[in-house]
Amino acid sequence: MVQVNDNYQKLPGSYLFSTIAKKVAAFAEANPDKEVIRLGIGDVTQPLVPAVVAAMHRAVDEMADAATFHGYAPDLGYEFLRSVIAKQDYQDRGCDIQKDEIFVSDGAKSDSGNIQEIFSNDLKIAVTDPVYPVYVDSNVMAGRCGEYSAKEQTWSNVIYMPCTRENGFVPELPKETPGIIYLCFPNNPTGTTITKAQLQEWVDYANRTGAVIIYDAAYEAYITEPDVAHSIYECAGADTCAIEIRSFSKNAGFTGVRLGFTVVPKALVRGGVSLHAMWARRHGTKYNGAPYIIQRAGEAVYSKEGRAQLKEQVAFYMKNAAVIKEGLSAAGYEVYGGVNAPYIWLKTPGNMSSWEFFDDLLARANVVGTPGSGFGPSGEGYFRLTAFGSYENTKAALARIQAL
Ligand code: MLT
Repeated sequence: MVQVNDNYQKLPGSYLFSTIAKKVAAFAEANPDKEVIRLGIGDVTQPLVPAVVAAMHRAVDEMADAATFHGYAPDLGYEFLRSVIAKQDYQDRGCDIQKDEIFVSDGAKSDSGNIQEIFSNDLKIAVTDPVYPVYVDSNVMAGRCGEYSAKEQTWSNVIYMPCTRENGFVPELPKETPGIIYLCFPNNPTGTTITKAQLQEWVDYANRTGAVIIYDAAYEAYITEPDVAHSIYECAGADTCAIEIRSFSKNAGFTGVRLGFTVVPKALVRGGVSLHAMWARRHGTKYNGAPYIIQRAGEAVYSKEGRAQLKEQVAFYMKNAAVIKEGLSAAGYEVYGGVNAPYIWLKTPGNMSSWEFFDDLLARANVVGTPGSGFGPSGEGYFRLTAFGSYENTKAALARIQAL
């Protein structure tokens, strides 16, 4: 008898965004005359910018010629991309990160799900609550989270750090020391963030206790306030306690293109073992490198034209964020986020549960959002809207919500 990985059986239901997609598909089928506006999953809608498209075309032409054809990419990423990342994302911000500390991948979702593999199954993870579901689910699959309580919607072996309006969405340092701490700032789903000084406290805590921070900085391009760090390596001592994960999905519209990277500093050592060496071994064994065409597209993100075009694209989405934030506030909703992130986090009206509000909004306004409780128990009573829609749809969705 083949034994399966029983940990998968412990996972409740399906992945959050799959559940939502199924519900919306059923609604659309039953109501073919209704025009549904989707502000649920954080998927971009603007096309790739011209500098990126031109780079991809050039790379395709190279692939069409034996003299410039590329086969397997170097498994850790092409040097041309790693060096421009190291310079522009890190060294230009005063962070001492070198190109050989960068591991190019097909995106932050896979990296944030896979990174737990290099840690022992005996350690405990700590997550902010609400949280991007991938961090917890990937640890459940590995058998690290204990048992699930459907009533509490929590795992017995996970440390939850609530982020609610009561604490200004700023997590407190955990009382019990975890092995891994997942942090995502600017935050998905709440759209809120913490200051660089607050992040420094986490870095100091991790260095003091030996914990490792997995820092998801997928939304750094949306930061507008000066006291917010774009990278955890802006904090002193982060190179000895933090791994940073970055994405091209939100800053460059690559959700359908797939590109990301993970930074593992060489100074990061636990139990006498280099985590950089471990991740290099894992990456080399299980991954054959992001495609040449896509890495050239990624390089174009850092070109002068690419940077200027993407600044406009980010501003476009942040204009949507303002439309949602202001529109909801005017309609009497309690609203958070949307200043340093493309997500707006609202309190559901009249003490409705997150899923009740989801159903109500879908049925009466034909607008799709994401129920806060899908991100963890402290998300109950909250709801997320994304600013990644088109301007017209965003305006139309708000008009419908205001008319409710
Ligand atoms: C979200 O909606 O939370 C994101 O799109 C998920 C992701 O980036 O994988």
